[in-house]
Amino acid sequence: MKAKILFLLSLVIVLLSLENCKPDPKTQTTSTDPDSLYRGTKYIIQIPFGFPSLTNPYKDSLTVEGIQLGRRLFYDKRLSSTGLLACASCHMLQHGFADSIVLATNVSGLNKRNAPTIQNLAWAPIMFWDGRQPTLAAQAQDAGHNELGLLPASAVPMLQADSVYARLFRKAFGRPGKVTESEIYLAIQEFEMSAISANSRFDSLQRGQAQYTPEESDAFFTIFTQNTGECFHCHAEGNDLLMVNRTSGFTFRNNGLQVANTINDFADAGRGAITGLSTDYGLFKNPTLRNIAVSGPYMHDGRYKTLEQVINFYSDSLHLTPNADPNIALHMDTANGEHLLTGGMHFTAQQKADLLILLNDMTDTSFLNNPNLKSPF
Ligand code: HEC
Ligand code: HEC
Repeated sequence: MKAKILFLLSLVIVLLSLENCKPDPKTQTTSTDPDSLYRGTKYIIQIPFGFPSLTNPYKDSLTVEGIQLGRRLFYDKRLSSTGLLACASCHMLQHGFADSIVLATNVSGLNKRNAPTIQNLAWAPIMFWDGRQPTLAAQAQDAGHNELGLLPASAVPMLQADSVYARLFRKAFGRPGKVTESEIYLAIQEFEMSAISANSRFDSLQRGQAQYTPEESDAFFTIFTQNTGECFHCHAEGNDLLMVNRTSGFTFRNNGLQVANTINDFADAGRGAITGLSTDYGLFKNPTLRNIAVSGPYMHDGRYKTLEQVINFYSDSLHLTPNADPNIALHMDTANGEHLLTGGMHFTAQQKADLLILLNDMTDTSFLNNPNLKSPF
């Protein structure tokens, strides 16, 4: 009897210890699968309601760790040759990732152009006011070299030696070994792809989840989308449901901003300086109007401080130049039956006020306060 009990007891002990030997499912991969060190957690972009599907070739290679890594890099001043500048110095979340000053100073001098917003660029096939880079990673490399003065010879070893960075690089790019320069830019691209704005009041109006006030209705249905203002021709490319979303049909236009008699007179030739085509001189990428109220100063040269000034420009200060868009050209003033080289949509005070309300509706505070987009430092 005693022997039987002892036998049963030892059986229980053996069974229990066998149970303890079973690998813990939570740690299983780390202890038995060496590759798990190099495997990040897949991140799937949730397409907001009404947005078109994503064709970006990088959309399936995003990881949680890659995005975290890109975010750190985006905010890290140690990447710049001076140690004083990060991407986020000129691209501030509270301004829709735009800059709040007219022209910023980079490592080698004053920038020529105003820094635009960074939002919903996962859908964008061209980067910069003149579209000179095709992807976010190529753009980030351009900015890394020209804005930050990033030197791979010092930045790469610095990142490699930092245990947080080293772990994130391993997870994001799925292999051991050395950090490479191109991975820096791929990670920044991942972070930027995760910067999605889709919750402004304007989005709710477009989705039918909110009611237009009479002022908003006037601004949208009689000015923005009619030839009273012509705005939709350029700021609603591709006829998307969400008109301020930059999606398909990105094009370059001349909105009558600069004064020029010939194509060589444009102070900034914009797209023309990239393609060399005479029909591209003075053209700039149609900017998104999303979060426009917080992303001033406005235009490629940051010449306007306020949205009131922008509205007054479209109302009364358009210029007819070579390559002026037809929707701008048809608003030139006439005197004695002659077309002048200046003009405007000539809004009433009420129309200006209504347009301003509509532009303010495009502010997405959930984006501007998104904790996942804030500095990790
Ligand atoms: C010193 C200021 C400054 C810094 C630092 C800076 N940028 Fe920019 N950024 C700009 C300016 C100015 C432009 C517009 C230039 C142009 O279009 O020619 C721009 C344009 C962009 C655009 C294009 C957006 C669009 O809609 O076309 C992206 C994306 C961007 N920057 C990301 C970055 C990243 C990533 C970094 C860090 C690697 C960075 N920037 C660092 C000033 C800066
Ligand atoms: C013919 C095309 C066209 C039309 C029509 C047009 N825009 Fe624009 N808009 C542009 C382009 C292109 C720019 C950038 C121009 C530049 O910087 O040289 C711009 C710039 C802007 C900006 C500044 C954006 C920024 O990030 O700096 C605002 C705001 C704006 N437009 C609002 C409007 C409104 C409101 C209307 C209608 C009353 C309108 N636009 C009509 C093409 C157009």
